[in-house]
Amino acid sequence: MSIKVVVVGQGYVGLPLAMRAVEVGYRVVGVDLDVPRVEALRAGRSYVDDVPDEVLRRALLSGRYLATAEHDDASDGFDIAVVTVPTPLREGLPDLSFVESAARSLAGRLRPGALVVLESTTYPGTTDDLLVPLLEQGSGLQAGADFHVGYSPERIDPGNRRWGFVETPKVVSGIDEGSLAAVTAFYDDLVLRTVPVSGTREAELTKLLENTFRHVNVALVNELAVFAHRLGVDVWEAIDAASTKPFGFMRFTPGPGVGGHCLPIDPSYLSWQVRRELGEPFRFVDLANDVNEHMPDHVVDRVQAMLNDCSRSVRGSRVLLVGLAYKKNTGDVREAPALRIAELLLRRGAVVVAVDEHVSERDWPQGIRRVDLSATVVADVDAAVVVTDHDGLDLAVLDGVPTFDTRHVLTGDHVVVL
Ligand SMILES: NC(=O)c1ccc[n+]([C@@H]2O[C@H](COP(=O)([O-])OP(=O)(O)OC[C@H]3O[C@@H](n4cnc5c(N)ncnc54)[C@H](O)[C@@H]3O)[C@@H](O)[C@H]2O)c1
Repeated sequence: MSIKVVVVGQGYVGLPLAMRAVEVGYRVVGVDLDVPRVEALRAGRSYVDDVPDEVLRRALLSGRYLATAEHDDASDGFDIAVVTVPTPLREGLPDLSFVESAARSLAGRLRPGALVVLESTTYPGTTDDLLVPLLEQGSGLQAGADFHVGYSPERIDPGNRRWGFVETPKVVSGIDEGSLAAVTAFYDDLVLRTVPVSGTREAELTKLLENTFRHVNVALVNELAVFAHRLGVDVWEAIDAASTKPFGFMRFTPGPGVGGHCLPIDPSYLSWQVRRELGEPFRFVDLANDVNEHMPDHVVDRVQAMLNDCSRSVRGSRVLLVGLAYKKNTGDVREAPALRIAELLLRRGAVVVAVDEHVSERDWPQGIRRVDLSATVVADVDAAVVVTDHDGLDLAVLDGVPTFDTRHVLTGDHVVVL
């Protein structure tokens, strides 16, 4: 009988992991409390861009993948469990309730010799101080002596075709040597390269460092873009030129703001912990949050100025948003800046319509009419805003329509670039 893996959470992180584990020969139960998601999985319909339907169907046909909404379906225990549930902010504070409930469900089914790995992004200490006690209390077993526990941050980059799950090195850690060995052995089966670190806290901090680094650098170029515009300097040309430096510079480009489950949330886990434990503000994170959160305001001010130059007001104008997802080639609208841009435009009296074929009906935001990117639709709008430059969009159709381009993908007299 092959090794049994339970993956708790079948979302953007858990589903690709489950598929890869099936592919290399594990028997996998994918548990998700979201019943419509489980029904879709069972019918062979993937809602995660990085997992094509064929891959899901192959997993189902192998007989080694079961999607279920019932933790009871994992009731004959497991050899390995991976927790990939959300770690959101609730009123600005880390909400670990999903991790807690996943840990409680697993604890009752924990057997001696099993391994539990946390993948959800969180602040240093969560595995040791939250996960381990919950598993011990619920099982009556002792971590380290009776079962293994580790942390391995996910580095999935939705839509990235070059760096997929298998090629991206995976940082691994354990609460002790035996746990580290067990975690490493599991991920060595799944990815080309594992990177062991000495403790779970270091692995947890690694993920937060990576995302905070990105958040801060995105904020830097965003603020630079705002000031460069006012100074009358082309920030995009400066970024292109700086990118020719073969060392000591890394290219980041401005945009309409940040979204998704990582950048707007993860750095705040770190600043929350620094404030709670050390009583100090993490100034870089606070500043980056502030700059990135205000980019949609800047975009809408610039759209208003663009309309003004055409002797139009925002009020009463029909504005087409091109792309709602926070990220190119994905359908993920969580925390997407396009939603805030739409809200601000609506508040100023615009009529907002949007096109994004990647976003499913289920995730489509209320109050914004869905249209396609056709000449007929474009003939009927006063302005367009390119928010997300998905591949394959026919942006030439916007010719002649005043267009605010937050991604620097268009040229022409009708275009104003961020
Ligand atoms: N999406 C990314 O690109 C990405 C990248 C790296 C890390 N992460 C981190 O990974 C974690 C998961 O993120 P995601 O994007 O996969 O989230 P997601 O919302 O896509 O998926 C999480 C799933 O967990 C399910 N769930 C919640 N509680 C459960 C429980 N007790 N039992 C079973 N299922 C449960 C939800 O229904 C949901 O379908 C987060 O901590 C996130 O920060 C995400």
